[in-house]
Amino acid sequence: MFGFIGKKIKKSDKPRVMVFANQKGGVGKTTTAINLGCAVAEKGYKVLIIDLDPQGNASTGLGIYKEFREFSSYDVLVDGMSVNKATVETGVKNLYLVPSTLDLLGIEATLANDENRSFKLKEAIQNMLLETIKIEDNYHYIFIDCPPSLNLLTINALAASDAVMVPLQCEFYALEGLGQLLETVDHVRKTLNDTLIIHGIVLTMVDDRNNLSGQVEKDVREYMKNKVYQTVIPRNVRVSEAPSYGKPVLIYDHKCSGSKAYIKLASEMLNRDKDMKYSN
Ligand SMILES: Nc1ncnc2c1ncn2[C@@H]1O[C@H](COP(=O)(O)OP(=O)(O)O)[C@@H](O)[C@H]1O
Ligand SMILES: [Mg+2]
Repeated sequence: MFGFIGKKIKKSDKPRVMVFANQKGGVGKTTTAINLGCAVAEKGYKVLIIDLDPQGNASTGLGIYKEFREFSSYDVLVDGMSVNKATVETGVKNLYLVPSTLDLLGIEATLANDENRSFKLKEAIQNMLLETIKIEDNYHYIFIDCPPSLNLLTINALAASDAVMVPLQCEFYALEGLGQLLETVDHVRKTLNDTLIIHGIVLTMVDDRNNLSGQVEKDVREYMKNKVYQTVIPRNVRVSEAPSYGKPVLIYDHKCSGSKAYIKLASEMLNRDKDMKYSN
């Protein structure tokens, strides 16, 4: 898009599409999508975040308040608007956003009779690639932030993605929730997207002083082995303050423990991505 300076990108490169999914609310999906997106953008990659949650937390957290949301992911899914048209710049270099609005709440009813309803986002991303005339219009990564449920929006995101990132909070029901999500991913593979892979599980809001959290982390690592990222995101008040300033924590306070963790996670994610076996 505009004035991109960073890693080389070819017009024909297909962006890696990743969905941040967990049917539980408040586990750090949005926080991770924004801050990992910011950390990856800071390393010179061009990143687009698509906000697919009617609550619009990713949009607000990136400073794109309601009055700036002329177009949204609703227009893309329902009216076939091009992704590029709905995209806005954020205050972060190399980081772009398709905002969301409350209109998304009505999407199940609006698309009820559309046979293709699960593939609206996938089609939009494919069309965007066909439309990409200038090299600068392409992206290295597209991150999709999902609502906390397995509804049509999350299904669209899973159908459109290459890989799933699972933010997981180490609390009592974490493993149970993870099991449900893995079943859903399996089901999506069988029905909508047979090449979908799990990129990794990110442990969020980790509190070293909490015994239960330590035990759950141990269990998750035992169960999911190296799918769990080594880097964990600590509970850090700066991370929770940043959205009220409309900024990713990396911009709000680059030196706090939360920012450092997301920078480290970005390196680990990018490294892992090189070895990831994608079908395309
Ligand atoms: N590492 C962290 N430290 C402290 N607070 C956090 C951290 N990660 C997320 N939060 C806070 O927890 C709440 C839920 O996070 P959020 O990313 O919105 O979850 P989700 O998108 O899964 O619903 C938010 O208020 C957020 O600011
Ligand atoms: Mg969220």
